[in-house]
Amino acid sequence: MMGALLQNSFTIAPKGSGFLHKHQRCLSKNRTRSFVRYHRRSNVTESDNLASVLSERSMLINPGHADAVMDPSSSLVLSPNGKNPADVIVKDLVPYNGSCNVQAAEGIGIMKFLRGKGFFITGATGFLAKVLIEKLLRTVPDVDKIYVLIKAKNREVALKRLKNEIINTEIFKCLRQMHGKSYETFMLSKLIPVAGNVCESDLGLDENSANMIAKDVDVIVNSAANTNFHERYDVALDINTVGPGRVMAFAKRCKKLNLFLQVSTAYVNGQRQGRILERPFRIGETILRENLVNENPSSQIPMLDLEGELNLAQRLANTSSGNKTTQKMKEIGLERARKYGWQDTYVFTKAMGEMLLGSMRGDIPVVILRPSVIESTYRDPFPGWIEGIRMMDPVVTYYGKGQLSGFPVDPNGVIDVVPADMVVNATLAAIAKHGMSGTPEINVYQVASSVVNPLMYRELGDLIHQHFTRWPCLDAEGRPIRVEPFRFYASMDDFSSHIWRETVRHISSSMMPLPNGKHSRKIETICRKAVEQAKHLASVYEPYSFYGGRFDNNKTGLLMESMSEEEKMEFYFDVGSIDWEDYICNIHIPGLRQHVMKGRRQIT
Ligand SMILES: NC(=O)c1ccc[n+]([C@@H]2O[C@H](COP(=O)([O-])OP(=O)(O)OC[C@H]3O[C@@H](n4cnc5c(N)ncnc54)[C@H](OP(=O)(O)O)[C@@H]3O)[C@@H](O)[C@H]2O)c1
Repeated sequence: MMGALLQNSFTIAPKGSGFLHKHQRCLSKNRTRSFVRYHRRSNVTESDNLASVLSERSMLINPGHADAVMDPSSSLVLSPNGKNPADVIVKDLVPYNGSCNVQAAEGIGIMKFLRGKGFFITGATGFLAKVLIEKLLRTVPDVDKIYVLIKAKNREVALKRLKNEIINTEIFKCLRQMHGKSYETFMLSKLIPVAGNVCESDLGLDENSANMIAKDVDVIVNSAANTNFHERYDVALDINTVGPGRVMAFAKRCKKLNLFLQVSTAYVNGQRQGRILERPFRIGETILRENLVNENPSSQIPMLDLEGELNLAQRLANTSSGNKTTQKMKEIGLERARKYGWQDTYVFTKAMGEMLLGSMRGDIPVVILRPSVIESTYRDPFPGWIEGIRMMDPVVTYYGKGQLSGFPVDPNGVIDVVPADMVVNATLAAIAKHGMSGTPEINVYQVASSVVNPLMYRELGDLIHQHFTRWPCLDAEGRPIRVEPFRFYASMDDFSSHIWRETVRHISSSMMPLPNGKHSRKIETICRKAVEQAKHLASVYEPYSFYGGRFDNNKTGLLMESMSEEEKMEFYFDVGSIDWEDYICNIHIPGLRQHVMKGRRQIT
């Protein structure tokens, strides 16, 4: 990890590498490929005031309900983590329901549903929502307006961000080709930027925009989030927990809304073990309580009090000041998450967001979509598109640059990865299915691979090694950087001492020998920093690199089965069919090198 890690920057591969030759094309050109409105209720809460939202919620907690959640027969924990590939493949999936067959011939009617529908999308400048917007506009050009909520001080700034961060980005190049000179006109006729913020009351919308959206919108997709694992507790709560609540409060103003889709994460399942089913959270539920009650049904463990958590975070943030506040609030987030059975602040606050939505939704149909680790696109609009350094990518990039020889990770554990376009296709299928039915229920879909097509860390390590051996990065002098087979460290101590040794070796080889063979204070400082950084990276990832849960996706499978053959081609999300070797070696890492690791030459 050494020198360049200390710079903490990712400046590698140039654009235009030769890696994507196999897949790099705009697929849209080459491929062959009733609506029941629910009625507005009179008893809905129009306010997004959380206190009222939460007190309304507390009345919704059915005392008998908690017992049902804790009933061992309804346990989400079905089997422990396997230790070899055979164990990893879970063979006892519930078979897809044969009754889907008749419906499947006709399909869900995804295109039919989406045509003419108005959308309101938050988080539109983010990675996933861009893939969603691109797919919608390319596949369903006669979709109605898509309002995109963008953090900005006014509409002009929102428009500027829309152009710079969405319309002019590479993912839209196929649409640009399709529309030629009228591309921008087409995009601006569909995408309506609105300045706002999910942390503000009424989403920070001006009255006109709010009224327009409330009148026009059929589907809301809430993708806005703070995805930092160790964010300040008050900040993460505001965006990931209360944010969805504010969007739901706004949803209740939308006169013809069919569906509210919340983009969540499969890791809201916290430290559950084994095969984890697609079930919604109930308010107040905790993973700790679930585990303890399963072990000892008479345990008295308090429910999670959302309002209490918000008050606590606010009080602590208000009572401390100065530089240490941020660090303290980060620690509090982690402490509260761990106390209740979640691994970090991000997933804990996202889980509470799901709970809040569940309690506030009234009879609004809700889909909770839980993707696992989202990585680059598989096919659509072209393979390998990615933005930003995602979950597994810091390790991949440091390794490729020869700055990291391995990582503390269980080689027999499973990394649950899904390509972004599959997540988007599942999103659109779920929107159509539940938007069309209008049934006021909450449906959870886990878009995940660890049960149907597990990728073990051991295999991932081999694939990364294989890729960088065939196509090494180049060092500053243009020489190929040789990589050793990926190493799996059993403990943080092993990892730290390895980093220390490597840093010393690296620095010593590039410095004059020191008197008496002693390390200078400078070398020690550099080593200590490198070890600290490596340990920090490892500790952030530890709950994921040794994760013991597998995300069942039976409902997602059923959703797929209810699609027609044509829909399965256009909106494919068969995670079970992913060839990991092809995806990792020929699609994902090349995409990462092209779109993210910019600036370092590579052998093509
Ligand atoms: N990436 C993954 O691997 C992954 C996996 C599972 C689930 N998810 C979920 O998928 C969703 C999208 O993730 P992503 O990777 O696309 O995230 P991302 O790239 O970090 O984008 C986050 C988006 O949320 C917006 N946002 C943040 N705070 C906001 C606020 N206060 N008001 C309005 N907008 C706000 C950001 O706007 P700015 O540009 O203005 O900051 C950005 O557009 C999230 O809900 C995340 O939890 C992601």
